[in-house]
Formats: sequence, C-alpha cells, structure tokens
Amino acid sequence: MQQEVLSILGLLHDVSNNYQGASLVLNQIIDGVYGQSLEEIKPLLIALQQTNDRGVSLIQSKRTAFFELNPVTEEQFDMLSFLQNNYSRFKPIAQYHSLNLHYETQSSYKHGTQVRGDSISIDRMLCNLVTNAIKYTLAGDIFLRLLNQEDDLIIEIEDTGCGIAAEQLSNIFIPFWRAPQSRLSDKAGRGIGLYIAWMVAYAHGLSMRVDSVAKQGTKFTIIFPYKDDGIYGVDGRMLPKSQRLQDALPI
Ligand SMILES: Nc1ncnc2c1ncn2[C@@H]1O[C@H](COP(=O)(O)OP(=O)(O)OP(=O)(O)O)[C@@H](O)[C@H]1O
Ligand SMILES: [Mg+2]
Repeated sequence: MQQEVLSILGLLHDVSNNYQGASLVLNQIIDGVYGQSLEEIKPLLIALQQTNDRGVSLIQSKRTAFFELNPVTEEQFDMLSFLQNNYSRFKPIAQYHSLNLHYETQSSYKHGTQVRGDSISIDRMLCNLVTNAIKYTLAGDIFLRLLNQEDDLIIEIEDTGCGIAAEQLSNIFIPFWRAPQSRLSDKAGRGIGLYIAWMVAYAHGLSMRVDSVAKQGTKFTIIFPYKDDGIYGVDGRMLPKSQRLQDALPI
C-alpha cells in the first residue's frame, strides 16, 4: 500500500513539474525574452511540444508502479540525442533562473551510445536530478555530461549550488526527507524527486553515485554498465521483481 501511494505521489510530482517548467518557458516567450519572430521562438516551441508530449506519455503510461521495469517498456535508444533533448528542454528553465546549463559530450564513444531500458523512467530519473540541480543552485553553472568511464557509459549532473553536508548524504534517497536548510528555504518540495531517481536506477541495475561538498556543489553520476552485446544498461539479468522491490525500499 505504501508503495502504491508513493508511486502515485511520484507520478503526480513528475507530471506537475513537467507542466510547471512548460508554463515558465511560455511566460518567457510571451514576455518576448527570446524575440518576436517565429524563427527566433521556434526552437523553444519545439522544446515545449516535446515537454507536452512527455506529460501526455507520463499520464497515459499509467505508471502507478513507476519502478517496475516491464519488459514491454524495455527499449533501445540513443543516449546522446536523448540527453540533447533534455538539454534543450531545461536550457530555458535554467536561463530563467539566471543559471547556465551546459551539455558536454565526447567526440566519440568507445562502444557508441545505445542504451537499453525504459526511456520514460530514465527520463524521470534525469529530470529529477536536473530539476534539483537548478533548484539548489543560486547562481553559477550546471553541467550535463555523457562520458565513457572505461567501458561503461556515464551521465553526470553537476551543479555549483548549496551542496549537501556529509552527515546528511545518507538520507537523501529516503522519501519525504529534505535537508533542514531546504525546508527553511523558499524552495518548495516534498522530498520525492531523489527517491524516484534512485528507484529508477535500482530497477535498471544502474549505479548512482553522489559527491557533494557543502556550499560548493553536488555531482550525481549514473553508470550504465557495458554489456557484451554492445549496448549499455539492462541486460535482463536483473533480480526478480519482488526481490528488487523489497531491496529497493529502505524505509
Ligand atoms: N543538487 C542538490 N543540491 C543540494 N541539495 C540537494 C540537491 N538535490 C537534492 N538535495 C537535497 O536533498 C533533498 C531531497 O531531494 P528531493 O529531490 O528528493 O526532494 P525536493 O527537491 O526537496 O522536493 P521534490 O523533489 O519532491 O520537489 C532536498 O530537499 C535537498 O535538501
Ligand atoms: Mg527534487
């Protein structure tokens, strides 16, 4: 029961964040921030259309159990263009907050950039991490990176924000947990985003690493392990679903 409630709250959380971002960009367009001509605003409109489609697919997927990796939804996709889309979607949102979002890639990748997994869930994981990076950075830069680490493919989301104190790091994936300074700040939140991100990583068998220095910034690293068939990520050798669920709920 608790899992179902968390899943529904998580879905509402992500759908609402999706449309809040869209409405913020729409207001910027209306205010003429990006210019007046169709040519100038077209890239933004395309990003908005993708955001809208994403919201629809989140709702239509009826993901009450968002952490379940249904084999039907396992697919292969190109992480390089997937992140490029995310970058285009978040760039204006970062800009609205006077932050500079960068997308850094390598000129070539050892085994390409094809990933296997549930793209909607992986998108939710990334969006929550990028949203946090924007939310907890007052001024400065945010980096989204796609890199090789030996044979593996890794995504980094690094910010130059408030950071997380070392003694608080072990709490961040617990549902509803928020750092005391976040609770006191004007940043609204329910402490759900990182739980979603962690669950998605866990369901896919991905490792997630956090490095953070208080008052300096935070870096999340997600590792997509290289598989023998040339594709990164899930290989069908995950733990049985029930086992995963049990292990994934440290609460
Ligand atoms: N990039 C970050 N920099 C600094 N602190 C962070 C960062 N990401 C998360 N945190 C801390 O971890 C807490 C939990 O994050 P989480 O995303 O789960 O919740 P939230 O952002 O507070 O709210 P919600 O995601 O539900 O809108 C945050 O409240 C914040 O204290
Ligand atoms: Mg959050």
